[in-house]
Amino acid sequence: TGTAELVIVANRLPVDRVVEADGSLHWRRSPGGLVSAMEPVMKLHGGAWVGWPGSADDVIEPFEEDGLQLIPISLSASEVEEFYEGFSNGTLWPLYHDVVAKPEFHREWWDSYVTVNRRFAEKAAEVAAPHAMVWVHDYQLQLVPQMLRDLRPDLRIGFFLHIPFPPAELFQQLPWRRQVLEGLLGADIVGFQLPGGAQNFVRLVRQRVGFKTHRDTVYLPDGRLVRAASYPISIDTADFEALARSVTVTERAAAIREALGNPKRVILGVDRLDYTKGIYPRLRAYAELVADGVFDVEDTVFVQVATPSRERVEQYRRLRDEIDRLVGRVNGDLGEIGRPAISYLHSSYPREEMAALYRAADIMMVTPYRDGMNLVAKEYVACRYDNDGALVLSEFAGAAFELSQSWLVNPYDINGMKAALVEAASAEPKELTRRMKAMRKTVIEKDVASWASGFLDDLTTIRPVHRRRV
Ligand code: G6P
Repeated sequence: TGTAELVIVANRLPVDRVVEADGSLHWRRSPGGLVSAMEPVMKLHGGAWVGWPGSADDVIEPFEEDGLQLIPISLSASEVEEFYEGFSNGTLWPLYHDVVAKPEFHREWWDSYVTVNRRFAEKAAEVAAPHAMVWVHDYQLQLVPQMLRDLRPDLRIGFFLHIPFPPAELFQQLPWRRQVLEGLLGADIVGFQLPGGAQNFVRLVRQRVGFKTHRDTVYLPDGRLVRAASYPISIDTADFEALARSVTVTERAAAIREALGNPKRVILGVDRLDYTKGIYPRLRAYAELVADGVFDVEDTVFVQVATPSRERVEQYRRLRDEIDRLVGRVNGDLGEIGRPAISYLHSSYPREEMAALYRAADIMMVTPYRDGMNLVAKEYVACRYDNDGALVLSEFAGAAFELSQSWLVNPYDINGMKAALVEAASAEPKELTRRMKAMRKTVIEKDVASWASGFLDDLTTIRPVHRRRV
């Protein structure tokens, strides 16, 4: 056993080791919502973080950063292909996101998933202090809870799924559905973004594993119990707001608008370049409004930031080509000299630049086909301390449940999105303020610190055994 009282286990470390073309090495913050949420939490609580540094065959000794112990897990090139790009992102990711792309099922991918999950479990078992809390994260590591419990029955084990948990009708397709459910049941608490995910899980456990359940509780034959509940994740709201208020960000926001030609209206999209995010229909809705003459490139510009992601996976390459083509066509057809209709950036940016973009945007469009939560929507709200700005948000993002004062849209309905965008663009300042104020109240009250303490308090106080054998 080790010495860490709190261990988090996630596929990625908070930092990503990047090798530049010239061979130089540096560390960069890892992409995605999981890291942006968990990083402030772990800086607050301290402890150990077990994860992958982001490239193949990297063998790196544990090191310390900002009072956190970072424990790198090495993946071979074939594990990156089969466990990460394959089973995690070619099978589970599309399956759990409503099959918006077709999931592939390959037995070698599954074997690699089992092998790598075991490696994470063994490392966590090694670093956790006696009776420590271990918090396992996301779809890449669903077998870790039970593997870890077998190794270390003394631990309190929590699991949180950052992405949606699918309805039984879809989950059923997975050839290894039972193993995945049993893996998750190694945890004392299995957390989901929304109540629906927890309900899907409990129902599947009853149907597929045959354990007794009552409401949010699963009764295991050995006397243990597992709770399934929802914990909608959030951001470090105060930190984002402070960043947005800083002089550097304020000046940068003005410089961005200036560089765009001081338009009347800036519309913004910010996503990992992922087929779940609904980038294509959003840009089409906007382009049609320009073509219809509702918006004019003289005074309106759409800024789309697409952060490179999973670039070796076929479906992501195809998406990149589709977006490149669409943007090229829209700008070719509708742009004017010095006035593109869409300003498209395929790149990742530091938090300061993101805050400046949020400050510079009059309208933020977040229109995924399916999304666990979507923290970009919450970040935009956190940065609008002047109670100004409009959020157009997909009803299929987890965030829609809390940010119900946004303009809610169905991303499959292009006309509906066009109508919402026009409404948001022509809303009275009073209306914008009313909506933004209400959303800000939510995001300020429910920040990531209260999310984490909600989960960890439950994990501390839960009674992990029931008296009656069933
Ligand atoms: C989402 C997932 C995370 C993942 C992130 C970035 O937020 O929930 O688990 O880390 O995307 O994706 P990547 O494949 O680059 O780690």
